[in-house]
Amino acid sequence: MPDIQFLGHSCITIENSTHKLIIDPFITENPQATITADKIDVQYILITHGHGDHVGDAVSIGKRTGATVIANFELANLCAKEGLVIHPMHIGGAHDFDFGRVKLTIAHHGGGFGEDASRYTGPATGMLVTMDGKTIYHPGDTGLFYDMKLIGELNDIDLAFLPIGDNFTMGIDDAVKAVEFLQPKKVVPFHYNTWPIIESEPDEFANRITDAEVIVLKPGDTLTL
Ligand code: NI
Ligand code: MN
Repeated sequence: MPDIQFLGHSCITIENSTHKLIIDPFITENPQATITADKIDVQYILITHGHGDHVGDAVSIGKRTGATVIANFELANLCAKEGLVIHPMHIGGAHDFDFGRVKLTIAHHGGGFGEDASRYTGPATGMLVTMDGKTIYHPGDTGLFYDMKLIGELNDIDLAFLPIGDNFTMGIDDAVKAVEFLQPKKVVPFHYNTWPIIESEPDEFANRITDAEVIVLKPGDTLTL
């Protein structure tokens, strides 16, 4: 059964006895980080979109470990230019890897890399990751969208991360609606309190959810599915 560790903001690792992957490896510039990027040892780096708080340390981790980057076609190719091994995918597409399955979903958000976000990195995505029969939904950065209902119908989601920080993504009200659409067994709020602009109240979110188990993780916390 996979262990999921929350590393702050939108960064998580998923691992079982043979494989480890990291999603949105934003560590060095992450004020919430409890680990340094040089300690991350993974076989795969999944990146939901090209913003700096999601690409993070992908290049240094990828170069050191030889990990394969899984991301949308445009962002993956940008990573290849930086010397990384890539597996490009795109929205709606799924692929079976040696650790499990990844499917890219839509996300209502932007994508651009660099100081002024001017390097084109394709549309933002979310990711459904299935390992050891457990499905984890990492929506990336997104606003609420009605197709979450479809994602919930087509997938038996064991664990959904949901942004609650507002301003750049969903806030609490819309995240509550997202839980109704997705019907996950467990929910972890993320993408909040990294900076003052995305301050939020995870307990308020938790108190409003009745149909799923809400787990508030602190950076560094791990849960087993
Ligand atoms: Ni973003
Ligand atoms: Mn973000």
